Amino acid sequence: MTDQPNEAALAPEASLEAAAQYARSYIAERSQRDVHPTPEAVAELTQFEEPMPTNPTDAGDVIDMLHQIGSPGTVQSNGPRYFGFVTGGAMPVARASAALASAWDQNGALATMSPTAATLDGVAIGWIQELLDLPNRSTGVFCGGASEANLIGLITARDSVLRRVGFDVQADGLFQAPEVNVVISAEAHVSLIKALGLAGLGRNRVTVVGTDNQGRIKQSELEKISISEGPGILCLQAGNVNTGQSDDFESAIAWATERQMWTHIDGAFGLWAAASDRRKHLVAGQQLANSWALDCHKWLNVPYDAAVAFVADGQNLRRSMAAAAAYLGESSGRAPMHLGLQMSQKARAIDTWAVLKHLGRVGVAELIDSSCDLAAQFGSKLEAGGVEILHDVVLNQVMARFGDDETTDAVVAAVQSEGTCWVGPTTWHGLRAMRISVSGSETTELDVEASVSAILRVWETLAD
Ligand SMILES: Cc1ncc(COP(=O)(O)O)c(C=O)c1O
Repeated sequence: MTDQPNEAALAPEASLEAAAQYARSYIAERSQRDVHPTPEAVAELTQFEEPMPTNPTDAGDVIDMLHQIGSPGTVQSNGPRYFGFVTGGAMPVARASAALASAWDQNGALATMSPTAATLDGVAIGWIQELLDLPNRSTGVFCGGASEANLIGLITARDSVLRRVGFDVQADGLFQAPEVNVVISAEAHVSLIKALGLAGLGRNRVTVVGTDNQGRIKQSELEKISISEGPGILCLQAGNVNTGQSDDFESAIAWATERQMWTHIDGAFGLWAAASDRRKHLVAGQQLANSWALDCHKWLNVPYDAAVAFVADGQNLRRSMAAAAAYLGESSGRAPMHLGLQMSQKARAIDTWAVLKHLGRVGVAELIDSSCDLAAQFGSKLEAGGVEILHDVVLNQVMARFGDDETTDAVVAAVQSEGTCWVGPTTWHGLRAMRISVSGSETTELDVEASVSAILRVWETLAD
């Protein structure tokens, strides 16, 4: 064995070198580009819309085309001034690990398919469990997004609460199953509602509990619900998509536990508050739930396709998700295919492991705290400029309103096309608002200042 690269083996990989160079120049030139692509750049994308090619194209030409036409049409969502949705960037270490992992091209289904992937998977799951103070005995599985993690959590919840009353959903389906009482918040995320539908629990056949002016479930309303005896699931949320607030887990879970209900927390981004000593009080009691959904590809700044579903009693997860076939053999070691929805799967843990190893416990806390501090600055600077902030800014989300609905929508649209930063619209308790999410690791005070100035300037121009 030699450490020297084999030149002949590397020759076909010239396109990899080109891709690395393009990636470097793309990153370097980001600050000179508008956050959202220009209409001209978007118009150029029609060049991709050709008939399925009959003949092959040189790999280098494929990469050239991707860069020349594709790069200008991208949104700088991994840059420091993108505040849309809840969209973290990818940290440099994760971009690099993703490049190496694409060369490895490992199937993360079973340890036997990739000892490296399985090892990193187990380590990353353990680290997240520790960072977020989830129970030691819990089991987690990487999946494609919090939508999928919600689905995995709710399928496991459904099977577990029905098993307790002697019903085996995996064997017999839901056809003769007893009713499951499902309680959700009026502010439940759309992905959770979709997951309820997919899990056969129904998008509409739920009891909806009202929320307070910060989007948290009202305990007084929860107490009023009379739940019939039998299996039940309470769905809570860490990190309201508009306000960043979390439900009062201690009280709500106590209510559910008295009724022997399963509690699931959708914590796509908000659960990461648990990693910060300054913010963990916002999600106090999170470890009392039975299942959790969280994303790494949002606030942890890991590239896409990285989320985790955790279940407090791993046996329950395995019972719902295991699949057996003779050709797969007896699995020993980590076996993500027996914990989640997919068999073949990207070895997703690699990028998350790289970010966690790079940041350490201190770095993760700093990432969370810095976004929250910057969001607070956003709020106070906008307020100082005469803008109304619609909620208490406690996490990384800010909702701003510019007088009335029409003006607010006009300011959001004008800011989006002005190019300094990108923010989205939302409706909060009947009022249109600008929604600002500080989730990228590269955002600094200067970016907040530049963005606030641009927003106020745009508002002033519209008023003229
Ligand atoms: C609270 C919450 N839950 C779930 C999701 C869905 O996550 P994903 O986009 O990773 O599927 C989101 C996404 O914004 C979210 O904010």
